[in-house]
Amino acid sequence: MAKSKTVFFCRNCGAEAPKWLGKCPDCGEWNTYVEEVVRTKAPAEHHRDSEKNARPVALSEISSSEEERMDTGIGELNRVLGGGLVYGSVVLLGGEPGIGKSTLALQMALKLPNEKVLYVSGEESNRQIKIRAERIGLSNENCLFLSETSLDVLFSQIGQIHPSLVIIDSVQTLQDESIESSPGSISQVRECAVKLLRFAKESSTPVILIGHITKDGTLAGPKVLEHIVDTVLLFEGDHHYLYRILRSTKNRFGTTAELGIFEMQQSGLREVINPSEILINKNNDGLSGVAIGATIDGVRPFLIEVQALVSTAAYGMPQRIATGYDVRRLNMLLAVLEKRAGFKLATRDVFLNIAGGIRISDPGLDLAVIIAVLSSNFDRPVKKDICMSAEVGLSGEIRPVNRIEQRIREAEKLGFKTILISSGYENKLAEGKKGMSVIQVAKVEEALKYLFNTAQ
Ligand code: TYD
Ligand code: MG
Repeated sequence: MAKSKTVFFCRNCGAEAPKWLGKCPDCGEWNTYVEEVVRTKAPAEHHRDSEKNARPVALSEISSSEEERMDTGIGELNRVLGGGLVYGSVVLLGGEPGIGKSTLALQMALKLPNEKVLYVSGEESNRQIKIRAERIGLSNENCLFLSETSLDVLFSQIGQIHPSLVIIDSVQTLQDESIESSPGSISQVRECAVKLLRFAKESSTPVILIGHITKDGTLAGPKVLEHIVDTVLLFEGDHHYLYRILRSTKNRFGTTAELGIFEMQQSGLREVINPSEILINKNNDGLSGVAIGATIDGVRPFLIEVQALVSTAAYGMPQRIATGYDVRRLNMLLAVLEKRAGFKLATRDVFLNIAGGIRISDPGLDLAVIIAVLSSNFDRPVKKDICMSAEVGLSGEIRPVNRIEQRIREAEKLGFKTILISSGYENKLAEGKKGMSVIQVAKVEEALKYLFNTAQ
């Protein structure tokens, strides 16, 4: 016999409590508990579900070969996943509404002619999907569409057609009838995800769940889901830009350092294979406040334009505003300039922008940030065939960064003539840099002397 009960869930971490709590004892967030009516199954049924297929095995019976992966047909997506979609894994593709999650998922489904894809949409009708597919300009006879929100119907369809990949758009619209609460509520989302996870593991079928996240992350679901799924991919980007960044925040089968870049076009998402090309403006010769940094995200090096504007503060409090860069790091670098190199920036407004709406946390961009700020401050442009890659320490010293050879090679490939790096490397840099001069500096002043032919 089924019975109903009321349970309180934490919207942030999914913790469960029999009564309302002001502060979640699990994650420490305030005011996140919401009430939900849950009707649980009779205990006997529960038992039967969890018993099948379980058998302990010895280590020797487990194969240790690499996980088998499915090529998703989209190179950037493969890379962020760690080399493709692992069979039997559940991937959550999260992002704000309108960012392009459905487009990415559909594009992938249509690019897999050899897989039997089941694309389940609870948000769009088949006709809407058809229109979208026409816009993207792809078609795939092996891909089946189902406009459905009921988990039971979904599983019965899966049982009939045996898909090799299931895409669900979105997990917040799914409903498990054995639970009384409404779709999108924490208990629904969690229960549906757990059942799909069990299906994925038992049948070795990869499942992609699309989930909406609002700006403040309050909507039920994805936060709770993160603990359940194997991989969490976030699709982000500024609505004002066309670029979309795909990054993973959790990955049981790969690194979370990788980054995929796409451009939203009239005909769907285009992979940006060479990010440097879009991140550097080739026509800004002679503009002050611009410096090019050679950075690395994951394993891929690319060059990016750092733009700064320094102006006299109109009011007593100077402003420091950074887009795509940590404003605390900017403040630290400004303090270094003030204290160690003697620049008076305390009364100046400083605005910093990383091109393309991309967010960078690589410390190797420090030198480019400092140079962009000073270039704007002096109103002296940096020559456009110079780039740089170095961390700046608290005493104004220029420090080495990881994978410098790769960064230099990328700069060379893009036609830069000079790169400024730290002098702190131990000799192994000498060979193989024809056609490109590598300038090694130890202090911020040396870099300035080289670039602007001045110490201050
Ligand atoms: P969508 O994939 O529906 O976003 P989500 O599923 O994350 O809510 O994409 C939404 C936006 O993308 C929408 O504003 C229209 C735009 N778009 C294009 O610019 N080109 C296209 O080919 C497609 C399909 C969508
Ligand atoms: Mg959508």
